[in-house]
Amino acid sequence: MTISYSDRFRQKDAVQSYDSKEYGSGSYSTAIWQLQRPVIVRVLKDFRRDRTEPVRLLDFACGTGRVLACLERLVDSAEGIDVSENMVAVARTKCAKARLLVGDILASPELLQKNYDVISCFRFLLNVEPEMRSRVLRRLREVLCAPAGRLLVNVHGNSRSLRHPAIVWRRRRERAEKSGAMLNEMSPAETKNLLRENGFQVVRQFGFGILPPTLYRTPLRQAAAAVDRSLAGNHWWNDWSIDMLFVCSPF
Ligand SMILES: C[S@@+](CC[C@H](N)C(=O)[O-])C[C@H]1O[C@@H](n2cnc3c(N)ncnc32)[C@H](O)[C@@H]1O
Repeated sequence: MTISYSDRFRQKDAVQSYDSKEYGSGSYSTAIWQLQRPVIVRVLKDFRRDRTEPVRLLDFACGTGRVLACLERLVDSAEGIDVSENMVAVARTKCAKARLLVGDILASPELLQKNYDVISCFRFLLNVEPEMRSRVLRRLREVLCAPAGRLLVNVHGNSRSLRHPAIVWRRRRERAEKSGAMLNEMSPAETKNLLRENGFQVVRQFGFGILPPTLYRTPLRQAAAAVDRSLAGNHWWNDWSIDMLFVCSPF
């Protein structure tokens, strides 16, 4: 039986694996996060510099608080929401000031405030069921201040990246093994269309990780990390990065 994305991170072992394996020290995801973190900090600081009013942040699908713990100190008020009580329990240990909520924003719309200035949404869009993507984006669009608000949305599997052949090969193997691995991909164009259909226009795009992640499991790890470090950020080759970050404005 296939587990829904909303249920996937409810179990304690999934939470443990996310924190200690996916984001364990030395993992590929940790290497990408080290490149991404200074960029989102810069985006938030730039946003803040241009404003006189307090900045209110929502981290949707906040999980264990990885992104929220980094951003909460840069804003006046911060909230994180997630359907998994166990993920949020870890977020509570990492976040010092954010208000943390457990619940489903579609079933209980009242969980959200009405006017966030910045909404972040990391590692959610790619793996959630396609029919949920638009429903969630539309709800987030309703509660983001227009026109000045910003959505920071991340897609961590680009079908136009050099990782694509490895994903195709793993999908074939997966059909035999049925391990439940998440092997979804979206292209930059697909992502932008989805965002546009739901009232968001991409104003900036950043990319992280050009080389195939397999290299990080070989003696070439240090060299691969150095190349990815030098190619990360806002460049013309963003559309080929494995991990994409879009800064969007509502329209
Ligand atoms: C891969 S984790 C990402 C967590 C965090 N954003 C990060 O980047 O580290 C995906 C998160 O989405 C949450 N999630 C799944 N479906 C959800 C839904 N319908 N509403 C809110 N959160 C949801 C899961 O519980 C999980 O914590």
